[in-house]
Amino acid sequence: MPETKAVANIGVVGLAVMGSNLARNLASREGNTVAVYNRTYARTSTLIEEHPEAGFVASETIQDFVASLEKPRAALIMVQAGAGTDAVIDELAALFEPGDIIIDGGNSLFTDTIRREKALRDKGLNFVGTGISGGEEGALNGPSIMPGGSVEAYEKLGPIFASIAAIAEGEPCVTHVGTDGAGHFVKMIHNGIEYADMQLIAEAYDLIRHGTGATPAEIADIFTEWNKGELESYLIEITAEVLRQVDASTGKPLVDVILDQAGSKGTGVWTVQNSLDLGIPVSGIAEAVFARALSSKPAQRAAASDLPGPSTPWTVSHKPQFIEDVRRALYASKMIAYSQGFDAIVAGAEKYNWDIKKGNIAKIWRGGCIIRAQFLNRITDAYEENPGLVALLTAPYFKAAIEGAQDSWRTVVAHAAQSGIPTPAFSSSLAYYDGIRAARLPAALIQGQRDFFGAHTYQRVDKPGTFHTLWSADRTEIETEGSSH
Ligand code: 6PG
Repeated sequence: MPETKAVANIGVVGLAVMGSNLARNLASREGNTVAVYNRTYARTSTLIEEHPEAGFVASETIQDFVASLEKPRAALIMVQAGAGTDAVIDELAALFEPGDIIIDGGNSLFTDTIRREKALRDKGLNFVGTGISGGEEGALNGPSIMPGGSVEAYEKLGPIFASIAAIAEGEPCVTHVGTDGAGHFVKMIHNGIEYADMQLIAEAYDLIRHGTGATPAEIADIFTEWNKGELESYLIEITAEVLRQVDASTGKPLVDVILDQAGSKGTGVWTVQNSLDLGIPVSGIAEAVFARALSSKPAQRAAASDLPGPSTPWTVSHKPQFIEDVRRALYASKMIAYSQGFDAIVAGAEKYNWDIKKGNIAKIWRGGCIIRAQFLNRITDAYEENPGLVALLTAPYFKAAIEGAQDSWRTVVAHAAQSGIPTPAFSSSLAYYDGIRAARLPAALIQGQRDFFGAHTYQRVDKPGTFHTLWSADRTEIETEGSSH
């Protein structure tokens, strides 16, 4: 058997749609020769037959695949996150040599990435967990890429990633996010924001449909119009296309024949779980995750479907004004989702010791990814002006934008409550906004309650120290040692 020559500067393992599209994208760029491998060879042979122009170096065995890579070797794994990823990593790690690089481009949980990076570093191998966003089309034509891992690995990978990434305003949508699991952490938050954005758009559609009686096609036109202004984004654009789609078999709007039970693969749940652990209120994202969960409980929904709604629902008197109010409410709620998402990034960076540049994250989300939007430029500007910004919402642009939107936002949330239209993301975002700006919160009462039933102690506004009231005795206050507040 002839010896396999090391000719490829990058390899791809796992040739389902995302893997094969990324391999084709890599192969289409000057200077890249791409090795490909899939557990089942049939998939590899289909890919090389369908795309002879790519000049792929195909292997039937993992040994030949590894031998076809130039040193230091770099292999991008595109298999289902979880046990499958560990299996491929183990196979490659057994054949790779110190200095070689294993890249995981799937939606892996960042704590798995931290674990894998450490285990491989101990063997002298580089492991780079990389968020890749943009779906099938982005993988082929230019995704947004969020690599973690070591600085040394990024030196080799940076130019390769830059060659395949989307370009936004002249810059490739890739940056070294931070070490070990930072890339997958940021991709997880990206997906959480994606959930919130999608839910908010869905609520806007529902409000307009119920409030004005507009058809899906008419709402598609409204979204197309919105896409010309500050809401301009990929998700608004594709929403218009989805709403315009007519079902071939019934002639009805497709959205009316799709079962209203939203699926999920886990990254939204991870965002909420990890944000809870970090103590960050990502309420907009959480409501989006819960809304999908609620939608997917048909038996409960059927049993609850005859529960009473409002006796006198509000009607919309001026439809164009209502639609404009919904647009502004959507923009304001979207700002909350991003502000919360960036809070989670800041907290994650602190906990896991990552030096994440928030402005650069907003920059690489401007193109290629699912949440790409005009508005991300405003986030980059805000962090460039003030890298230590305590909350995105407090930056001058966002403050002014919310000022312009808040009356509409309140009207829309009130309308939804009075009409019985569920708007968990709009409503919770407004509640968060009013909470964070409140001079004084009823948390003081909660501290009193906790001290009453559990002697959890409290602090006072007028003097330092930790206090407990002897509630069951004479209700005098004593200063206590330490604190459990
Ligand atoms: C992307 C997407 C992509 C995928 C997610 C969301 O950035 O390209 O986020 O990763 O669509 O898996 O999936 P679910 O909605 O099924 O959780």
